[in-house]
Amino acid sequence: MEAGVRETRRSDDPSTAAARFVDRGRLWQRHMEMAKIGAIPGDGVNRQALTREDIAARKLLIGWAEGLGFSIAMDAIGNLFIRRNGRNPDAPPVLTGSHMDSQPSGGRFDGIYGVLAGLEALEAFDEADAVTERPIEVVVWTNEEGGRFSPGAMGSMVFTESRRLEDCLGIADAQGVLFADALAETLAATPGTEKRPFNFPVAAYIETHIEQGPKLESEGLPIGVVTGIQGSRWFEVEVVGESAHAGTTPLRFRRDALQEALAIISALNDLMNDPSDTVRFTVGRMEVIPNSPNSVAERVRFTIDFRHPEGSVLSDLGNKIEPTCRRAVTCCEVEVREVFHRQPCCFDPRILGVIEAAATKLSLPAIRMPSGAFHDALFMNEVCPAGMIFVPCEKGISHNPAEYASPDDLAAGARVLALALLDLANK
Ligand code: GLV
Ligand code: MN
Ligand code: MN
Repeated sequence: MEAGVRETRRSDDPSTAAARFVDRGRLWQRHMEMAKIGAIPGDGVNRQALTREDIAARKLLIGWAEGLGFSIAMDAIGNLFIRRNGRNPDAPPVLTGSHMDSQPSGGRFDGIYGVLAGLEALEAFDEADAVTERPIEVVVWTNEEGGRFSPGAMGSMVFTESRRLEDCLGIADAQGVLFADALAETLAATPGTEKRPFNFPVAAYIETHIEQGPKLESEGLPIGVVTGIQGSRWFEVEVVGESAHAGTTPLRFRRDALQEALAIISALNDLMNDPSDTVRFTVGRMEVIPNSPNSVAERVRFTIDFRHPEGSVLSDLGNKIEPTCRRAVTCCEVEVREVFHRQPCCFDPRILGVIEAAATKLSLPAIRMPSGAFHDALFMNEVCPAGMIFVPCEKGISHNPAEYASPDDLAAGARVLALALLDLANK
């Protein structure tokens, strides 16, 4: 990878000149500073959306950006924009970024890398005295993970008007805190920032992210050019039975919500059985009420995360989820609510070409690949030409404290990003 960097030093091309100012050590140091906020054992972070930790991370980022002379703006859902102006300040900007919120037991790179790579690119442009026609902005999308307030990608969905802000405000976290209240606290913590409308015109969007899968590492490749994102559907299931004494109530009199939930999940596993291992079906959260060892469960709530790269399979199998749940219960009621539904997307071939050309200029081998995870780029793809750059992460581990990406790989992705941004901002 460093061979690629040395290559750029020999180059006279003004765009590659900016990439050599991408500073691997500085980029790494910022990741490590950010990782102190919400640090958990095993090198992970718990920095869920709109928590005190999220606010602290936003403040740290704003401090860095303002220290470099960039201006800050925010929209009504707390999406944050860091702007480096262009020769034509009225031209729609090129956006890059990702999210800073994490899973409850998350890693140090998911999301935050896309934000810090963007800031690194802006700083490198300043150091290289690069002038662009369009402004370039780093965006931090609110609540991409969806672990605290479901579903994820809320900030980019609302920005792109795929969902209304009003429809998010009443969503509560597991403690009953409303999204509206957590958002108000976050907005109040960063007063005085310029206000932005939703869905202002954007020229193009590029998101840089760790791969979160094993392909790049196993093939020894530094750059993934992301072709698209598989589709996702999220459901919330509630099974309602009746609480009863565990020691005295005969089985025939029980309406045991936990036993029925197990029967439902077993039926869903049969439905989702896929010898090709393409279907992704996950039950990641279960709540049992009253959650006592000697009471029969009265109520069980659980989540379903179902994904597939083919839209027709996503529709057909996804539509069978509710009837399958209904057929599996014998003595309880079941309610199934779909809270998120996104068909697969394909990124704009022009953006794929720009990213590939940037990697080639830097002598960084790249392959085209789809994304199994969803990202804010899925929504930005609806309103402007969009694309993504992946970098390897160790053993593909993600949504786990052990998540790791090397300083070399992070820097390589940021250099490709810098070149691609310059290209797009001068088109
Ligand atoms: C994003 O975090 C996802 O779940 O794909
Ligand atoms: Mn992410
Ligand atoms: Mn994630």
